[in-house]
Amino acid sequence: MVERTLSIIKPDCVAAKNAGKVISMLEENGFNIIGMKKIHLTKKQAKKFYIVHKDRPFYDSLTDFMSEGPIVVMVLEKENAIADYRKLMGATNPEEAEEGTIRKLYGSNIERNAVHGSDSEESANYEIKFFFNELELV
Ligand code: PPS
Repeated sequence: MVERTLSIIKPDCVAAKNAGKVISMLEENGFNIIGMKKIHLTKKQAKKFYIVHKDRPFYDSLTDFMSEGPIVVMVLEKENAIADYRKLMGATNPEEAEEGTIRKLYGSNIERNAVHGSDSEESANYEIKFFFNELELV
């Protein structure tokens, strides 16, 4: 089934100038980029995006990090996009991620881990609408 998922290249990865390498990996792995923008979230917007984690101890630190610099936000489309992109990203903690995954290659730690990807169809729908309207998806 063709699915859509939301991908974010996080501030650490953009600042390190690794965004282009991540985009190449996405294309090489069969993902169609049907929407893309570079933006700088405010702290308030980051808190809204990560509202599901509001009671977690890392909520404040994570949202500080996600608003510290520009990010690249994309909508990816392919068969099984949600699970396949999670696999390509690797484990949340780069130290535990498999060789060749984006987080292993470009992540530093469990917070500064280079990329985000939706974890379910429900979160993909919420997250895509958070950043894009239908006219921006091609
Ligand atoms: S979950 O809900 O337990 O499956 O969470 P997980 O997918 O592992 O992580 C959700 C996001 O929270 C970030 N995270 C952290 N940030 C800072 N400190 C700690 N300890 C920490 N643990 C998890 C993690 O990078 C995930 O960010 P996103 O943007 O969703 O990938």
